[in-house]
Amino acid sequence: MEFEQFCNLLPKIELHAHLNGSLSAFSLQKLGCSNEQISEYQQLADLQATEKTLNECFKLFKVAHSATKNQQSVYLATKYVIEDFFNENVAYLELRTTPREEQNMTKADYIESVIRAIKDCDKNIIVKLLLSIDRSDDLKCEENLELIIKMRQKYPNVIKGVDFSGNPYNGTFDPKLFQKARNCGLFITLHCAEIKNDEEVEEILKFRPDRIGHGTFLHPNFGGNDSIWKLYLDTNIPLECCLTSNVACGTAKSYKQHHLQEWIKNSLPFTLCTDDKGVFGTNLSKELGLAYQYFSLTPTNLWEMTQKTVSYTFASDEEKKVLTKILQDWKVKNHF
Ligand code: IMP
Ligand code: ZN
Repeated sequence: MEFEQFCNLLPKIELHAHLNGSLSAFSLQKLGCSNEQISEYQQLADLQATEKTLNECFKLFKVAHSATKNQQSVYLATKYVIEDFFNENVAYLELRTTPREEQNMTKADYIESVIRAIKDCDKNIIVKLLLSIDRSDDLKCEENLELIIKMRQKYPNVIKGVDFSGNPYNGTFDPKLFQKARNCGLFITLHCAEIKNDEEVEEILKFRPDRIGHGTFLHPNFGGNDSIWKLYLDTNIPLECCLTSNVACGTAKSYKQHHLQEWIKNSLPFTLCTDDKGVFGTNLSKELGLAYQYFSLTPTNLWEMTQKTVSYTFASDEEKKVLTKILQDWKVKNHF
């Protein structure tokens, strides 16, 4: 089997995908974005990685947000994104999104629309929902968490966790807030060390979330320091690694100089993810291909990484067994 084909056909697990950032230009078109908006989106997405900055990347989310301002478009957006992941053989998807209020839609309506699309999905893919707390929306964090907890009580099999995201130059991590979420049975995944912010990173690691996203400025060779790296090693928290996103936002210098190498070298837990595949013009199969190209991860390495990823998911034990079997059967069928 050709390597590209392997990456596409392997039953994959995606644990870090933001709903609105995952919308393809084609989906945005179907959602009513004008040609002008689409070309703005694509031009920015096509820019050389080095020309972009994190703040510029954040501007791109506005395009998708302008196309998902009511319940029907949120429903359709969720449906399209799930279908795109399914079409590249993602078997398990944890989709995350920030509940958003618009003129004719409450945050609860927003969540209900996403859940309706997940429940209506008739494809062979397991989808779970993580709800994001936007760090830029500091003043509403408590209120947002209350809503998340309420919705989780209503949909315990779909809403599995809470994410902390948004522009990392804004807001601060509040351990009390996430402890409350944890006490209610929600899993916690936090964007961590996306930019250099040692104080916050230390607090996040001491909190011991179930997973962290990015982990860029942790290792001393990548802008972290010895005590932070030691703290990380003590926790051994799985990393959601988003190669293209980090390179595109300029937080990693290049694919080759990406901090993932420290995880590989030290046999630390990680999984490959897309972050915002629409914005960054990628998909999970491509991310696997990049890990092969730049870090020599062989098909066997990538299969094993996917198998380990099963244990990092927020799925039930029963669902984990199903995923393990899918992967085992696929390996046997494809003789490797
Ligand atoms: P949404 O939550 O479905 O609207 O997806 C887009 C949102 O996800 C953005 O507005 C950000 O708040 C968040 N997001 C997407 N990518 C990143 C990232 O790399 N770092 C932090 N936040 C992000
Ligand atoms: Zn992210």
